[in-house]
Amino acid sequence: MPVKVSMTVNGKPVTVDVESRTLLVELIREHLRLTGTHIGCDTAQCGACTVHINGAAVKSCNMLAVQAQGANVTTIKVGDRVMIEETRPLSKKKRWQLREILVKAEA
Ligand code: FES
Repeated sequence: MPVKVSMTVNGKPVTVDVESRTLLVELIREHLRLTGTHIGCDTAQCGACTVHINGAAVKSCNMLAVQAQGANVTTIKVGDRVMIEETRPLSKKKRWQLREILVKAEA
């Protein structure tokens, strides 16, 4: 049964009807078409799905969309503009892992 979820995403109020089991990353990618947020591992390991919720970094593959009800969500990109900057450098190994994930996601 669909549930109405409302939140602010990248400064814009949105309301979406989703199944209660819908993950936040699915809402962001499939309902809002914000595809800069990626699904890499789907097991909360890689961080490719990271968004900011009320200013805190959260792995959106590890959170239900309904849990973000009323939240202020910021995704990594809006159009060509990067909204979330990496605040600490990634190791060379992590950069290669992330690059492989992103290449697979783009394919
Ligand atoms: S998809 Fe890898 S942590 Fe979410």
